[in-house]
Amino acid sequence: MKAKHFLFSTILTVFILHISAQTKPVYLDNSQPIEVRVKDALSKMTLDEKVKLCTAQSKFSSHGVPRLGIPEIWMSDGPHGVRMEILWDSWGHANWTNDSCTAFPALTCLAATWNPKMSTLYGNAVGEEARYRRKDVLLGPGVNIYRTPLNGRNFEYMGEDPYLASKMVVPYIQGVQKNGVAACIKHYVLNDQEKWRGHINVELSDRALYEIYLPAFKAAVTEAGVWTIMGAYNKIRGEFACENNLTLMKILKDEWKFDGCVITDWGGAHNTKLAALNGLDIEMGSWTNGFTSNKAFAYNDYFLARPYFQLLKSGQLPTSNVDEKASRILRLIFRTAMNVNKPYGALANEEHHNADRAVGEEGIVLLQNTAKLLPIVASKYKTIAVIGENATRKLTEGGGSSELKVKREISPLQGLKEKFGAEKVKYSLGYASGAVSYDQVLKSKLNPDSLLKAAVKLASESDIVIFVGGLNKNTQQDSEGDDRRSYALPFGQNELIAELQKANKKVVLVMLSGNAYEMPWIKQATTLVQAWYIGSEAGHAIANVLAGDVNPSGKLPFTFAAKLNDYGAHSFGAIAYPGDSINEVYKEDILVGYRWFDTKKIAPQFPFGFGLSYTTFGYGKVTANKKAMTADGQIIVSFPVKNTGTVKGKEVVQLYINDQKSSELRPEKELKAFQKIELNPGEEKTVTFTVDKSALQFYSDVKKDWTAEAGKFTVLIGTSSRDIKGKVEFELQ
Ligand code: GLC
Repeated sequence: MKAKHFLFSTILTVFILHISAQTKPVYLDNSQPIEVRVKDALSKMTLDEKVKLCTAQSKFSSHGVPRLGIPEIWMSDGPHGVRMEILWDSWGHANWTNDSCTAFPALTCLAATWNPKMSTLYGNAVGEEARYRRKDVLLGPGVNIYRTPLNGRNFEYMGEDPYLASKMVVPYIQGVQKNGVAACIKHYVLNDQEKWRGHINVELSDRALYEIYLPAFKAAVTEAGVWTIMGAYNKIRGEFACENNLTLMKILKDEWKFDGCVITDWGGAHNTKLAALNGLDIEMGSWTNGFTSNKAFAYNDYFLARPYFQLLKSGQLPTSNVDEKASRILRLIFRTAMNVNKPYGALANEEHHNADRAVGEEGIVLLQNTAKLLPIVASKYKTIAVIGENATRKLTEGGGSSELKVKREISPLQGLKEKFGAEKVKYSLGYASGAVSYDQVLKSKLNPDSLLKAAVKLASESDIVIFVGGLNKNTQQDSEGDDRRSYALPFGQNELIAELQKANKKVVLVMLSGNAYEMPWIKQATTLVQAWYIGSEAGHAIANVLAGDVNPSGKLPFTFAAKLNDYGAHSFGAIAYPGDSINEVYKEDILVGYRWFDTKKIAPQFPFGFGLSYTTFGYGKVTANKKAMTADGQIIVSFPVKNTGTVKGKEVVQLYINDQKSSELRPEKELKAFQKIELNPGEEKTVTFTVDKSALQFYSDVKKDWTAEAGKFTVLIGTSSRDIKGKVEFELQ
């Protein structure tokens, strides 16, 4: 009997296990396609659970579906590294002891490499760190356009040209998302300044919107397949960006077929109905009005929480509205939190620090080297003076949401001491700024005169001076939440630089900033390096370039004007920047950056695309394989480039297009291709570019579409936007 009973119960158990294996819900079956799992999960959710998906549950997480075992979404800043853990319901740091990260370079530095391979390296490294920290969304990269050098957040973005930003942002996103972490392209769109960012209403032409401000976001969506996008704080043509029919429904979801999630900037939602109808998917940070206050547990009052539920429950909104949002959010969860194939990531390892240093070394731009002081041969000098607060100041802290808590930050001074020998390198602070603060400009208590005197004394007693200055991450400098008040270098640096130039003939100026600045001392200067914010390995990257272990190959991603009012945004009065506190009109229209300087024939201090090397490059004749092309055809442009110097180097060759005659205004030239090539001394390579219709089009305000008009075009090949090495003409038939 026992045997029979045992046999029967065994068979029954096997049968039940078999059935339960079969009835594991589809949404939990990893072998099923994501779209099938989305539908299945949605069919099992209540209305309340669907609505819950659309809002935050804490400062940096949004709801999952606990009953169904569908996990929450955990987000973290930022574009330059994974931010320290933040408290549940405030902006405070949670002070964990396991969240120190690698600080990667500011994206301005990445853009300055003009090397998409660096974006792949960077994206994968920062994606591994976000994955290791168990984040599902990394809140970056940012690609807002550099129209004014006063914008506090330009250091987080990729410069003034939409083509450069488009090419450099795609591999970064792909690198991050390979780790099962969603990138979040931001701030969509027209958040091109920090002043009044929470409400300023931007007015601009369709041409400027489509030709300048949208392309990098479009590339992120249509080329990189970005999984989330962050709505900006500002208004566009009267409607907040987080609930804007034109940008979110017509352009993003209809034209670009975006299948990911629109996430607000923190506090960017303002209206339940508009958020519901105009494509907002996840509401974050409401009630926090930025950084100063929040209503504890106000989460149920979020615009897409109880009020949204009421509209759906009462039938004022169709359930399809929340199903659309919930489907996108479930898709995001299956791509990230429930993605069983994702790697495990890694945090602050040597590989990531090497990646940081490599990007920094490739992004540093040599602007001037007329006295050939660089590279520095230490044996030639007994005393090397290092002067300036940025040689020792921690620049990974501050700046706003891109702030980081790092495992390591090699300062320029430390890097230079290691490189040239601590006994040779003498330091003097030179100038001092205040401590980092987000809402007030703190002043240093140190006496500026005595700092200057001590620095000048050291300079006069030294064989060579390395000044390390620029901007920093304090408010009203390179920092979120406000803009610079002046185009000048702050904290008395200009006076100090002038005194150093009198005290010593050999002065190497090294500037760390994410923005351009006025250079009143440029006529007396012989040696100038733009070194950006490089992060954990800053000191090693800077020392390797100054010592010549690395040959600099960076090119400027934005124009350095001689003076502020030379910029287009500063040529039409306050309404064009910063606006009248309600509205702002982009009166320079499509003529942003070099498009303005070249078309208006204004000489910049240093042009877009400019950067020197320790070697020299010679360009041969530019030729085209034919004189005319049809609209669906293409032209091959080629030219030889030779390393005519004595050391190996990398050169960024740039291709610009000039439309000789067009029915609507076009800039004097527009960047349409670039390549970074490496050449040994004496080596020559033939570079070829393929030019097709996409390089010739402009967005017509008349046709409300992209168009390429028949007629003559000129291809300009340059080593910068102003230094054109060769041209070739052809006809579009
Ligand atoms: C901030 C920033 C945004 C950041 C978010 C979360 O206000 O504008 O870039 O990701 O809030 O910190």
